[in-house]
Amino acid sequence: MTEWSKSSWRTKPRIQMPDYQDQAELNAVEAQLAKYPPLVFAGEARRLREELGKASRGEAFLLQGGDCAEAFDQFSANSIRDTFKVMLQMAMVLTYGAKVPVVKVGRMAGQFAKPRSAPTETVNGVELPSFRGDIINELAFTPEARKPNPQKMLQAYTQAAATLNLIRAFSTGGYADVHQVHQWTLGFVEGEKAVRYREMANRLSDTLDFIKAAGIDSTRSAALHQVNFYTSHESLLLEYEEALTRVDSTSGKWLAGSGHMIWIGDRTRQPDGAHVEFARGVMNPIGLKCGPSMTTEDLKVLIEKLNPENEAGRLTLIARFGAGKVAEHLPKLIKTVKEMGANVLWTCDPMHGNTVKSASGYKTRPFESVLSEVREFFAVHRDEGTVPGGVHFEMTGQDVTECTGGLYAVSDENLSDRYHTACDPRLNASQSLELAFLVAQELTALRQTPADVASA
Ligand code: PEP
Ligand code: CO
Repeated sequence: MTEWSKSSWRTKPRIQMPDYQDQAELNAVEAQLAKYPPLVFAGEARRLREELGKASRGEAFLLQGGDCAEAFDQFSANSIRDTFKVMLQMAMVLTYGAKVPVVKVGRMAGQFAKPRSAPTETVNGVELPSFRGDIINELAFTPEARKPNPQKMLQAYTQAAATLNLIRAFSTGGYADVHQVHQWTLGFVEGEKAVRYREMANRLSDTLDFIKAAGIDSTRSAALHQVNFYTSHESLLLEYEEALTRVDSTSGKWLAGSGHMIWIGDRTRQPDGAHVEFARGVMNPIGLKCGPSMTTEDLKVLIEKLNPENEAGRLTLIARFGAGKVAEHLPKLIKTVKEMGANVLWTCDPMHGNTVKSASGYKTRPFESVLSEVREFFAVHRDEGTVPGGVHFEMTGQDVTECTGGLYAVSDENLSDRYHTACDPRLNASQSLELAFLVAQELTALRQTPADVASA
């Protein structure tokens, strides 16, 4: 394979990236970012790779979630805390309910750039460039706002650094201590799922009490007191990614310093394109979105390029076909992976194949379709004897009304109540918890032997 450098992507076809008009300004921003500290460190990326390796073997489960697009004007400590809290709640349901360690990865601290289905948008006969995320341009529908502005990369870096700072404090400063399980209950999570959550939290407290009574001081155990929480985003804006790429002094390898895990989107995974070129040379765990148009030939080339040494935990294949379509697409990709003897982690993104336009005009996702796709994903892996190792979803800790359905039955008419997303519709806290219960149920069923089922 040809020589890689952090800028070798520049020789490849680039799509879904802005054409900045002022080259000198762009160069100045890149030079400035290149001097800033990386946001994450090589040892952390290595530890995540090991944990993802475990997930690929069924010894752990990946929970990857967060915003579709982080937004400058929705940046606040409360919203970071609430997203973090919902991830902890979901992880508790999986760890305690399905007895599996959970690898927690946020779509946070860098998830700013968005691929779009059309390069321009027309409103009332006026055509302007599409909004591509706050790191590139602005949502407002004016020519000035839609112009790509390199300075926004600096603001994105600052927001990512502050977000990560808070996440690190929450992860290790006592907030994520499992003894706090009752405090993670969000005020508005009521109803049947909240009752189930509280019951589980009570049982967990009882277990902790038992451990204490048995003479073990669990408050001193780092495993119970702290969590490892990682960050991830789509590595779409390669000028930003390159500027934060650093050499790891212990291994001599290159690290994308913008986040622990980066992924390649379904629209930018051309084997000879710029995005694959960038990702193949960095040591971070890499995700690859696999939508209905992924061919077995492309998948084979991509696996060879992205994981030439066949390391466990290096490559996560994120299946996102849409409800009703998993059985049509996933088995042939699994077959390719089996034939290659490739080590991959399979996860399910039940969001991006299920976006529809509601009658009221909002982009939404029926929660029932989200749940169906997860069930189908598990069913295919059960049939193939392979490991369903994680889920990838868009959510927020805020009580939004963006996806229809769920326990509170958000309806088409309700969508406008609290529709705040900067891009795709996200699950709210209650829907996220419902998803976690479903996944825990699927994982538990997977572990049951036919004898267990017969005696149940
Ligand atoms: C996303 O994850 O926000 C996204 C755009 O996904 P995909 O590339 O799978 O469409
Ligand atoms: Co999205």
